[in-house]
Amino acid sequence: MPEGGAEFVVVANRLPVDKEVGPDGEVHWRRSPGGLVTALEPILRSHTGAWVGWSGIADSDDNPEVEGIGIQAVPLSSQEIAEYYEGFSNATLWPLYHDVIVKPEYHREWWNTYVEVNRRFADAASKAAAEGAIVWVQDYQLQLVPKMLRMLRPDLKIGFFLHIPFPPVELFMQNPWRTEIVEGLLGADLIGFHLPGGAQNFLYLARRLAGQATSKGTVGVRSRFGVVQVGFRTVRVGAFPISIDSGELDTKARSREIRKRAAEIRRELGNPKTVMLGVDRLDYTKGIDVRLRALSELLAEKRIDADDTVMVQLATPSRERVESYIQMRAGIEQLVGNINGTYSRVGQPVVQYLHRPVPRDELIAFFVAADVMLVTPLRDGMNLVAKEYVACRSDLGGALVLSEFTGAAAELRSAYQANPYDLDGVKDAIEAAVTQTPQEGRRRMRALRRQVLTHDVAKWAASFLDTLTETASTESEADRGLHLMNPPVVDEPGTPQE
Ligand code: ADP
Ligand code: G6P
Repeated sequence: MPEGGAEFVVVANRLPVDKEVGPDGEVHWRRSPGGLVTALEPILRSHTGAWVGWSGIADSDDNPEVEGIGIQAVPLSSQEIAEYYEGFSNATLWPLYHDVIVKPEYHREWWNTYVEVNRRFADAASKAAAEGAIVWVQDYQLQLVPKMLRMLRPDLKIGFFLHIPFPPVELFMQNPWRTEIVEGLLGADLIGFHLPGGAQNFLYLARRLAGQATSKGTVGVRSRFGVVQVGFRTVRVGAFPISIDSGELDTKARSREIRKRAAEIRRELGNPKTVMLGVDRLDYTKGIDVRLRALSELLAEKRIDADDTVMVQLATPSRERVESYIQMRAGIEQLVGNINGTYSRVGQPVVQYLHRPVPRDELIAFFVAADVMLVTPLRDGMNLVAKEYVACRSDLGGALVLSEFTGAAAELRSAYQANPYDLDGVKDAIEAAVTQTPQEGRRRMRALRRQVLTHDVAKWAASFLDTLTETASTESEADRGLHLMNPPVVDEPGTPQE
């Protein structure tokens, strides 16, 4: 940790590195491939930067060295993993914030552990930060950290960004600890969501929940467009749609090696006319079942030719000890089995399903190889996969089928959009994508690329941090919150949906 503390501190549930143990037992810490790490790394290196997070391993006191970034690992015991991470974060908040696709579970022990672990992250951040530092807290696992940290260190500038959807008011109100969570977030100077709708939901809840009388008297909370006034403090609230390192992906996808590998993948798949692709963490929010059902019916109706189509589903294992994930995996694997049992020929499965992460370059080659990308979540804060696919298609080939219920749908208007609950609509969107003319495909992909290449993750981080570092103490500055509520810029006017 830098002496005197770090000027810029990121606080996230996960550290930006993953532990790898080689065949001889040697340990390497490999940088996680995520866009957040890529976007924040230059800022962390150019300031004295620190990252506070959990290594992903139970009961570990590992504190990896990463050149240029001070790492402060927060240890978690097995019980804390069960109650804070698998429990309150991923069996309470995750389903609650994703439209209760599965039923959220409310357990007081899980909540107590969530509070304790959030306090540990706040303590670690407080120790890592220099006087007056900027601290950026990430995501739903750490919603209490802003308030806890402000109480420890009122000198800090604190930002919070939620990477998942912020739910409708009626759903949020289920949570027995709704007031504590809203108050936890209000400890920040700036609270960011992907979409204006999430910011609006939060503003309403702040007014409704946080101003209530407490044993110490009533805290005055007023909110208006883009701003919450908490006593004398002004908290700004806005929409900052995240993106990817689109320039880097674009360059990689144009390289000879990736092009060669993409052609090879098509050959390995038996050179079908149409390659469809799904790339997701194996999560019930992703609607992998939706696309499999749609495919199955399209095959049954002979609107898609089983002899000439392959669907590849790459699914990274995720949260494997949480019951709803265990059940969902079984359901998806059964669907894959059903489709292959009914429509495949020997040596030529219609659905090729891999339950493992794929190396980054291989993934890029899959994006380049795929004619139709299937992104069908029932709810998703943003969905970076949709943007990654677009960034990889400098050839203007391919087609994107995109659920309306992703954050990305607000920006990627030229995709073949569909409501994932309307199976006929999803089937129509897939059929339209499969049968599009090359001309129509190029027109759509050009519009999609204009959006993705001009709004990358560096711009996202800069826009959040610039807003956070502007002083927000006067009334006129509070008015600036207005611009935060504008919908994301879309370069291309929406195209009519097929
Ligand atoms: P989420 O954050 O909910 O997992 P996103 O689509 O926003 O969903 O981001 C997922 C990230 O993980 C993307 O960068 C994507 O490329 C990567 N990813 C998803 N599935 C795989 C896979 N099977 N192999 C390798 N990377 C994957
Ligand atoms: C989503 C969440 C992240 C989380 C990631 C992977 O993107 O917004 O906070 O880190 O999924 O999930 P995991 O549970 O493996 O950290």
